[in-house]
Amino acid sequence: MGCCCGTGSGSTYKITVIPGDGIGKEVMEAALRVLDASNVDFDYTFADAGDEQLEKTGVALPQETLDMVKKSQACLFGAVGESAADVIVKLRRELDLYVNLRPVHSYGKKGRFGDVDFVIVRENTEGLYSGHEEYTDEGATALRITTRAATRRICEFAFNYAKKTGRSKVTAVHKANVLKKTDGVFKEVFYQTAENHKDIESNDFYVDATAMYLVTMPQNFDVIVTSNLFGDILSDEGAGIVGGLGLLPSANIGDDNGIFEPVHGSAPNIAGKGIANPSAMILSTVLMLEYLGEQDEARKIEKALIDTIDEGKVVTSDLGGSSSTMEMAEEVARKLGEL
Ligand code: NAI
Ligand code: MG
Repeated sequence: MGCCCGTGSGSTYKITVIPGDGIGKEVMEAALRVLDASNVDFDYTFADAGDEQLEKTGVALPQETLDMVKKSQACLFGAVGESAADVIVKLRRELDLYVNLRPVHSYGKKGRFGDVDFVIVRENTEGLYSGHEEYTDEGATALRITTRAATRRICEFAFNYAKKTGRSKVTAVHKANVLKKTDGVFKEVFYQTAENHKDIESNDFYVDATAMYLVTMPQNFDVIVTSNLFGDILSDEGAGIVGGLGLLPSANIGDDNGIFEPVHGSAPNIAGKGIANPSAMILSTVLMLEYLGEQDEARKIEKALIDTIDEGKVVTSDLGGSSSTMEMAEEVARKLGEL
């Protein structure tokens, strides 16, 4: 998959674990089962956040949780429900995790879209998604901020990431024909940044056209760099292309910290049934291991998961099987033990 940084140290990593709500808890238990079978040692601290926490205490993201995440080397995050804006969006902002990396990769049966392998690099700190809204007499307004500094660092990350992971093209996605100023700046800074990375091809598309191209020619994409809300929407489209939200992991990365979480939410429609696909959470731990520099263990877990999906015997119902979340995780852990 290819994430970031570091070299495996053989030490014990201090990790904050936030299971959250609904299937967040279920997929977290499953992913930790797989990590238990790996050769890396972790010192976990469990922390609360989400709808249940809000219900109990009136606060969705306790200060202790925020402090704990700041102190740890990385954080695993399951999913929360309606309090997402006050929890994960706040964590990203408070820790200045300016990159949201979302690899879209087809595993198992390739379906109608064939082999798909691209990465969405989503700006994580500003834009419409940061939710600066207010009511007016007429209804409501939202503030959309695009700074040159934030755009430059996300574009730099996208080009450097392409280079580091052997990818050859970065595509900027925007709507600069209509949002002439906010996305005009995004496009302008993107091409300025591209000047420093001439070995990587660069191009750009409008977001509406991209929504179509993703389903008509997904193979034409390599690295997509885009603003916060567009990245959110296009990554769920990416999930649909490769077989569903149960398969898409993500990494929130800043200069000092990382939070690793599936793209999906708490899925109240299937929560409590033990049928959620744990793959997105397991792949999020793979991104965390890469971030920590544990490349070998990352590859092994990824292989154990891919083999499990390819075999198709012990997989959840969204992948065409009838196994539970934990049964699938046990199978991945068993395969990992054999590698
Ligand atoms: P969702 O991602 O929870 O679910 C969308 C659809 O995908 C549902 O049909 C669900 O059953 C399916 N799905 C999701 N994950 C799956 C998995 N691992 N295995 C099998 N099927 C899976 O999005 P939705 O329904 O729009 O939102 C539900 C709640 O989650 C909302 O309260 C929302 O605010 C929250 N949310 C939280 C996020 C986070 O914590 N980062 C991200 C997205 C939504
Ligand atoms: Mg989303």
